Amino acid sequence: MRNHRDGTGQNNKYIRLVYYHKRKLYIILFLALLILFIIRSLGDGRNDNVQLNTNISIQFDRFNVYTPTETYDKEEDSLYSLMMSDYFQSKLLYKNLAVVIPFPEKHLEKTLNAIKRWDQVDRMPCDPSLLVNGKVYSKLSKFLPDLIFYTNFGRNQKIIDQITDLINESQWKQCFKSLQFIHANLTEEEDGYPRGPANQFVKFYDMPISRDYQYFFYMENDVVPIRRGWVLEIVRLTYMTEATRRRPFMAIGSTVREKEAFKRKVIQRFHVNGNAIWSTSEQMRKFLTLVQEYYQPHYGKGLMWYDGEFFEYLLDSRNWLVSSVIYQDFIFYDFLQNYSQWPYNETLIKQDFPSTYLIHGLNNINSK
Ligand SMILES: *[C@@H]1O[C@H](CO)[C@@H](O)[C@H](O)[C@H]1NC(C)=O
Ligand SMILES: *[C@@H]1O[C@H](CO)[C@@H](O)[C@H](O)[C@H]1NC(C)=O
Ligand SMILES: *[C@@H]1O[C@H](CO)[C@@H](O)[C@H](O)[C@H]1NC(C)=O
Ligand SMILES: *[C@@H]1O[C@H](CO)[C@@H](O)[C@H](O)[C@H]1NC(C)=O
Ligand SMILES: *[C@@H]1O[C@H](CO)[C@@H](O)[C@H](O)[C@H]1NC(C)=O
Repeated sequence: MRNHRDGTGQNNKYIRLVYYHKRKLYIILFLALLILFIIRSLGDGRNDNVQLNTNISIQFDRFNVYTPTETYDKEEDSLYSLMMSDYFQSKLLYKNLAVVIPFPEKHLEKTLNAIKRWDQVDRMPCDPSLLVNGKVYSKLSKFLPDLIFYTNFGRNQKIIDQITDLINESQWKQCFKSLQFIHANLTEEEDGYPRGPANQFVKFYDMPISRDYQYFFYMENDVVPIRRGWVLEIVRLTYMTEATRRRPFMAIGSTVREKEAFKRKVIQRFHVNGNAIWSTSEQMRKFLTLVQEYYQPHYGKGLMWYDGEFFEYLLDSRNWLVSSVIYQDFIFYDFLQNYSQWPYNETLIKQDFPSTYLIHGLNNINSK
């Protein structure tokens, strides 16, 4: 009995003990499971990280070979993926860009000098660190523009040969996809100043080649690059502008930057200078026709100073219906600054305007 009782007592004690510690046991069991779970998920996480890190470091190794900074990579990567996006595939169909250099035959020397300037490291069309073994190592290289020389009269083999030789010798020829020569076939009457440059600009749109491009950067021989990599900057600027506005533009360029500009007539100060990125869209072609019709009674044949006349047209209240639709598509931006014949301090501009890559004008006081 006692034994029995003892036994029962012991059993009861054991059960009581178990019962007493039941809660603690549950808690311990729960904690054990929790710790097991945490360790497992930590382990998983570590594995993922290893994989991820490996891939990331492989990518950075690859990038470091040919791009100057990580930030630049990221920018370029995001632009690249943007340009591969549906928007550009469907709406823009990805036409090429062109850098068009218009000049009258008599300015061949000036034009050759302008191109020779691009040999200086800080004026190169693309960053020299991207140029390796005759290739441009940039994700954007498939979007590089064609380089087009555009003369006022007909085809002139001597001019073509001189320019071809010069570019063949250059360090930067790979910064462009191809080299082309086109001609405006102006008559003596259509040529001259200021009519010649205006006629030449408008005639570009008559040529089938203009339809190969979505936009072109019109670059006269007194436009000076002040930073390396200006060609990729033009690529970036063109596509980013269209993408961020979600609509095409007609032109991006400079207003007058000269100090005393306030003394000038509004229209002289306030228009996109011809050295700009221009659209070749149907809308732009229609706009050109409208402006030509508008000036027909005054000038007869052709325009006189096309860039200013575009804004004269837009600011005339009789044209406000057209203006209200397209005025916003003419954009002022300082990737280029117009100083024309006026003196400027290149060092100062480089310092104060990080987005300026080009200056229209040769009167740099630093080079005196
Ligand atoms: C890492 O790269 C390998 C091979 O390119 C690929 O199979 C794997 O999915 C990548 N892992 C991650 C986390 O991106
Ligand atoms: C470019 O120059 C190389 C020699 O430096 C020459 O062999 C080649 O024919 C030239 N190409 C053109 C298009 O002039
Ligand atoms: C000038 O003439 C050439 C043929 O020699 C032609 O290919 C080109 O389109 C003409 N230019 C213009 C503006 O019509
Ligand atoms: C460019 O500068 C010249 C000289 O100051 C001026 O005559 C012309 O109107 C300017 N054009 C623009 C768009 O600033
Ligand atoms: C141009 O600007 C730089 C930077 O401010 C200055 O150091 C230099 O003296 C200036 N040059 C001239 C000729 O004024």
